Amino acid sequence: MTTLAQWLTAETDDTALRSVVVSMAGASAELADVLRVAPIAGQTGLAGHTNVQGEAQKALDVISNDVVLKHLQANTAVSVLISEELDDAVQFENQGAFIVATDPLDGSSNLDVNVTVGTIFSVLPSAGGLLQKGRAQRAAGFVAYGPATSLVLRIAGAVSVFTLDDKGEWVQVVVAAKVPETTGEFAINTARERFWDAATLGYVKESVAGETGPAGKRYNMRWVGSMVADILRILMRGGIFLYPLDSETVSKGGRLRLLYEANPMAWLIEGAGGLSTTGRQGILDVEPTGIHQRVPVILGSAEEVRRVETWYAKG
Ligand code: AHG
Ligand code: MN
Ligand code: MN
Repeated sequence: MTTLAQWLTAETDDTALRSVVVSMAGASAELADVLRVAPIAGQTGLAGHTNVQGEAQKALDVISNDVVLKHLQANTAVSVLISEELDDAVQFENQGAFIVATDPLDGSSNLDVNVTVGTIFSVLPSAGGLLQKGRAQRAAGFVAYGPATSLVLRIAGAVSVFTLDDKGEWVQVVVAAKVPETTGEFAINTARERFWDAATLGYVKESVAGETGPAGKRYNMRWVGSMVADILRILMRGGIFLYPLDSETVSKGGRLRLLYEANPMAWLIEGAGGLSTTGRQGILDVEPTGIHQRVPVILGSAEEVRRVETWYAKG
């Protein structure tokens, strides 16, 4: 059995980079313990304030942010933390080589019903500054707190998946995740249909038309409402995830955030052979203009992402 430490040693000679991943894995292992007993500890429910995105923070959003902050602050390889839950980037005292951008708790609307949530992170070189394209990432990963706690990672080579064992050790369970090229599964919040653009409407209509429709096959739909769970499924068995620009989110630029949701997920999906796009350009090529910038997100199995791009190219 390969452990996370063994994998990291084989993956990169950069000990500072390794230590950043170890810090995020440590924060996530601590969070897995917190989440497991949160309903007993009375930690479910709202925190009573809103974050910079105008979203009501849950108590566990705040706790998760604090845990990640604690672990990264203790690591001299980290210079800056960008978090969904913090208005401004936090500059640490040391001049570490890396910036971490994180969604400390993704899917928090699912917390009170015991559905999978997660932690997403992106590691960038400090030299590049706060606003770097996704292509500049040096490492990315996410944790899904599901029936098992899974850690998905990419540094230099293949996308690897680890499971947290009962002793707190991360054990490798997938050596090289590969997103199947084709799929019969799509993920989108269909309750937003009235806001959709022509491309999204066209793609989904085509997909639900079944064997005799233009797509020529039957599709199934899955939407967990936690990006981490939807993306883990797509990494393991294929599929496509869409949170496109729609008439309600257009003024904000989209729903999901570029630096700590779209970019790490796009980099992981592409590292496993899938594709990602905003519909108009590759997610990893988007030039960020703000740390909490939002972006349309379409990613997953290559053939399917190309089919959506064809729809966008029409108009
Ligand atoms: P967060 O909990 O960090 O705010 O992110 C929630 C995101 C993402 O996880 C999920 O895919 C999406 O929001 C769900 O959106 P809808 O509520 O519109 O389905
Ligand atoms: Mn999120
Ligand atoms: Mn979040």
